[in-house]
Amino acid sequence: MQAVGSDNVVEENVVALEIRKVSHALGAEVIGADLSKPLDDRTFQQIRSAFLEHCMLLFREQALTREQFIAFSRRFGDLDLNEARPAETKVEGIPELMLVVSRPKPDGAPATGRYFGADWHTDNSHLPVAAAVTLLRAIELPEVGGDTMFANMYRAYEMLSDGMKKLLEPLYGVHMLSRAVYDLSTPERAAESWRRFPAAAHPAVRVHPESGRKALYVNDQVRLFVGMTAAESRSLLRYLSEQAVDQHNVYRHRWRKNDLVMWDNRCVLHRALADYDRTQVRHMERTTVHGTTSGYSYQGPAE
Ligand code: SIN
Repeated sequence: MQAVGSDNVVEENVVALEIRKVSHALGAEVIGADLSKPLDDRTFQQIRSAFLEHCMLLFREQALTREQFIAFSRRFGDLDLNEARPAETKVEGIPELMLVVSRPKPDGAPATGRYFGADWHTDNSHLPVAAAVTLLRAIELPEVGGDTMFANMYRAYEMLSDGMKKLLEPLYGVHMLSRAVYDLSTPERAAESWRRFPAAAHPAVRVHPESGRKALYVNDQVRLFVGMTAAESRSLLRYLSEQAVDQHNVYRHRWRKNDLVMWDNRCVLHRALADYDRTQVRHMERTTVHGTTSGYSYQGPAE
């Protein structure tokens, strides 16, 4: 935005934003931004630094068109085109947009099938280039429930003892798609399994490429550590997961229509709560910003 100053010089009118924390552990609300309009660079930099500091941002009352939502998302980097996603999550002609929708059956019976994103996870971590940022808008919500939870993985790492930090430092966790069944019994079946359900190994402790801070990078989709069996890895994974999502380390977001929430997948876990009436619609729209390479494609033992 531009305005004429008192000395008749056209000057940039930087929007004054208020950044208000939404919980002790993470997250902040940005007040005063209108994301339907292009943001000047200084306003965008305020948002970007609040994002790096708080790891999750909330913008209320953003009645955006899909094009405006994508334009804002693009400010954070290249967007995922959702090529490997199922047809029902796609929107014709807008490959950057992903639908996260639970809708009752045409006769009004409850939706069946899995609730999307109900495990604690970080987006696209089954790929070597996992997601950096996810942006999610609430389009239509159930009367109650369907909240999203977030956990701060910087704090999860910082809460560990020096001994545990040292143990985790060289480990790589294998991130697999939840509920995927890997048949590795013959080379042909294994090749088919890896094609359908790609997996990636990422460091258990990740250095955030922008902040330089260390974050714990394990979640419910990590099945094992490279070089260990799933059974050997299980107790350690369970311990780390429980610590990470401890009540002192989370924020629970109660959605309102036209909320836009964005989170940093490099230092935040999230899950969608499967606690709403499935005769009602929950319609969210998402964009996903590509990250940098932090892992490698994994095709080793699954148990
Ligand atoms: C997701 O896991 O990306 C979606 C979260 C949600 O629907 O609340």
